[in-house]
Amino acid sequence: MSVTTPPEATTPPSATPREPGGITRSAAAARERTAVLEGQIARNPGEYRVLTGDRPTGALHLGHLLGTVANRVRLQDLGVEMFLIVADYQVITDRDDAGDLPATVREVLLDYLAAGLDPERSTVFTHSAVPALNQLLLPFLSLVTVAELERNPTVKAEAEAALLRQKRGISGLLLTYPVHQAADILFCHGNLVPVGVDQLPHLEITRTVARRFNQRYAAARPYFPEPDALIAPSTTVLGDDGRRMSKSRGNALELRASDDDTVAFFRRAKTDAERVITFEPERRPEIANLLQIGAYFTKMSPEALAEEIGSAGAGRLKAVVTEAVVEGLRPLRTRRRELASAGPRHLDEVLARGNARANEIADRTLDDVRGLMGMRY
Ligand code: TRP
Repeated sequence: MSVTTPPEATTPPSATPREPGGITRSAAAARERTAVLEGQIARNPGEYRVLTGDRPTGALHLGHLLGTVANRVRLQDLGVEMFLIVADYQVITDRDDAGDLPATVREVLLDYLAAGLDPERSTVFTHSAVPALNQLLLPFLSLVTVAELERNPTVKAEAEAALLRQKRGISGLLLTYPVHQAADILFCHGNLVPVGVDQLPHLEITRTVARRFNQRYAAARPYFPEPDALIAPSTTVLGDDGRRMSKSRGNALELRASDDDTVAFFRRAKTDAERVITFEPERRPEIANLLQIGAYFTKMSPEALAEEIGSAGAGRLKAVVTEAVVEGLRPLRTRRRELASAGPRHLDEVLARGNARANEIADRTLDDVRGLMGMRY
């Protein structure tokens, strides 16, 4: 089974490089573009609609907050309309057991609300609750080649990890989930997607789908926008083993953790053997990570924080960062506890309202798409 003629053989190749290493190069381009976009967003927040989201594989952690959730709250507060997908179907891209999804979805919702996402201004919905969104997948799949799906570096990395874990081939869902994401983004005409660099290849597929759909079915008047990535300002947060913080690695500091667990987490965190604290992300990633976390919560630059600690060493750095995180997360944690102790009713209502709104929009989009494709009977 192979698709021999790419749907847009006559159009020039996209500006984004596709060969290995492409992520790094396109990340630089996306960062430059982000700076331009930030200026436009500040001037005209009403022209943007954000779609982004998370897989409900567990409660959110510090990496989520610094990497994307805080950025979403900032955009929301600037007046940008926000759609947040809790991507439950994505949980089974790389595992068989999705766990207790209703409980996990509530944990994610608690984290969103506690972090400051406001359901009056931001629509939160679950992927599986919006059937019309998923129906867009079929026409969208016709617009990409198998080769394009197979060379997506993020999918490749996930496939390798899943292969090691489960010792079997990659599922069709894993290969095609970037096309689901195109549907996630395009069903609500999202034109801004705040993501980490690992998601850039997916966004490129979304842009390709939008462009080819427009060329094929809406040449006179483009129907879908080609959304832009907005790269979050902060960098990757490391877990207590020095690798990227991730739920599945078991190295994460959950936002909902207690103060004691927070203290213990930073006690375990890796440092290095050098006495004087300096901010050198390439050469001293563990120290730089702590400085970046501390800088986020103290609103200082990592360089200034390093300077302040200087020869007091890693012990002092850890104490400063622990204190900053415990204090910085206190309002979020207090609010989270209040919301959690009020029971699931409020959360379920927030989700029901979000799902209803997403369904309304998805139904309209699917109807338009059917009309454009000549499938209205
Ligand atoms: N894949 C994203 C993650 O791993 C979640 C997600 C689903 C998403 N659909 C999306 C992100 C659309 C951006 C746009 O967390």
